Amino acid sequence: EKGGYDHFMLKEIYEQPKAITDTYRGRLLRDQAIIKMSGVEDNMKKFLNANRIIIVACGTSWHAGLVAEYIFEDLARIPVEVEYASEFRYRNPVIREDDVLIAISQSGETADTLAAIKLAKSKGAFVFGICNVVGSSIARETHAGAYTHAGPEIGVASTKAFTTQITVLTLMALRLARAKGTITSSDYHRHLLELEMIPDKVKKALKSDNHIKIIADIYKDATNCLYLGRGYNFPVALEGALKLKEISYIHAEGYPAAEMKHGPIALIDENMPVIVIATKKGHYEKVVSNIQEIKSRKGKIIGIVTQGDEQVRELADHVIEVPETLESLSPLLTTIPLQLLSYHIAVMLGKNVDQPRNLAKSVTVE
Ligand code: F6R
Repeated sequence: EKGGYDHFMLKEIYEQPKAITDTYRGRLLRDQAIIKMSGVEDNMKKFLNANRIIIVACGTSWHAGLVAEYIFEDLARIPVEVEYASEFRYRNPVIREDDVLIAISQSGETADTLAAIKLAKSKGAFVFGICNVVGSSIARETHAGAYTHAGPEIGVASTKAFTTQITVLTLMALRLARAKGTITSSDYHRHLLELEMIPDKVKKALKSDNHIKIIADIYKDATNCLYLGRGYNFPVALEGALKLKEISYIHAEGYPAAEMKHGPIALIDENMPVIVIATKKGHYEKVVSNIQEIKSRKGKIIGIVTQGDEQVRELADHVIEVPETLESLSPLLTTIPLQLLSYHIAVMLGKNVDQPRNLAKSVTVE
């Protein structure tokens, strides 16, 4: 059942090239330069007239929502707010009939997300669901939606659900950008082409597995870890930290790299591993200077870099390469080494990777 892998989590990490392909199959029709998603098509007016998009989710799905905020605003120029479902539902939020709420949930059963949907519906908003589990409560409760088609995710730590959620959200943003005319035709085609190449690039990123295992062995006894990223890769830093926390029980924090100087930099000493996402596009030079700040305080630097990078390689203690892609698609690649790093650390520490203590696969309590 684990298909020859030691754990479901590892199997699901390795399934991502296929899962992402399954997610865009029949939707991304590059020959015709079309994105076909019936849930979006049938409700195009609602999306195009939206005052704003509110995204609600929990945990890893909330991180996918944060990535979507960058994509939707960047490509489709629609204002986006992303909120934890549990906070949204209890703060008497302002919801208008011309708001579109997108709920993201792998299981489709998360109680807080379900309650946020019911609240938004009661105020007249249009609610769109992005779920993995077909026929789940959230899939049934929403007005329309799109499935991720990632296949069953058994490991409690979410992996392929995250990358396929981002894939669906990217398709939506591109479809809406095209309809709104906020993306040039060449940029649109470039995105379709690059998105189609992502599964192969994920495969390449997975090839660093042995190298990552060596790094995991060096840092497995750390008691704290910092994850930094900027722009599209800030949410990836949050997700990397969550993965490490939940399966290895090592305390980890994700931060926007530029926020470091407003506090967290005080934590840095020679015992602190800092994982920095420093891919070529997206504030690269700024991230390099953040890395210099860490280095001068003797922090240990693990850089997630674009293939062929030289600048970060010179400064960092270790680098893990991912293939080059568009900045907007980079989270689909930079996430991979972070998943593997947490996985190997947790295995080396003898933790129950697939069923970490205190956690359940679907959180049906509020
Ligand atoms: C993290 C994790 C949780 C879930 C969260 C939301 O690896 O698994 O943080 O992401 O409980 O679950 P869903 O997406 O099912 O609503």
